[in-house]
Amino acid sequence: MYKAERHACALPAESEGFTVVQICVGSSCHLKGTAVIVTKINQLIEERHLENDVILSGSFCAGKCNREGVTIQVDDDMFTGVTPETFEVFFEEEIMARIGRKAGLA
Ligand code: FES
Repeated sequence: MYKAERHACALPAESEGFTVVQICVGSSCHLKGTAVIVTKINQLIEERHLENDVILSGSFCAGKCNREGVTIQVDDDMFTGVTPETFEVFFEEEIMARIGRKAGLA
């Protein structure tokens, strides 16, 4: 299971209306599955036609290296311990739900 940790940060003004997903590409996260998660999220974005809803980028080590999983920031919330195995649940709960709220669907 992934852990949620709130983390304040400023997002670029041009990201307004989008859900900004930043996946850590630091060496510790890379060893725990960043590449697999990037492949999965790109597939999900394409399958669900979310290109106009999500800004996807990489980020350097956030200093939150975990024994298990990858650190992912979604807008101003940071999550640690996301694994390739838990990523689909994470995507539904933390990314799709957020997109739905922004669209006024939830
Ligand atoms: S390498 Fe990802 S948080 Fe440190």
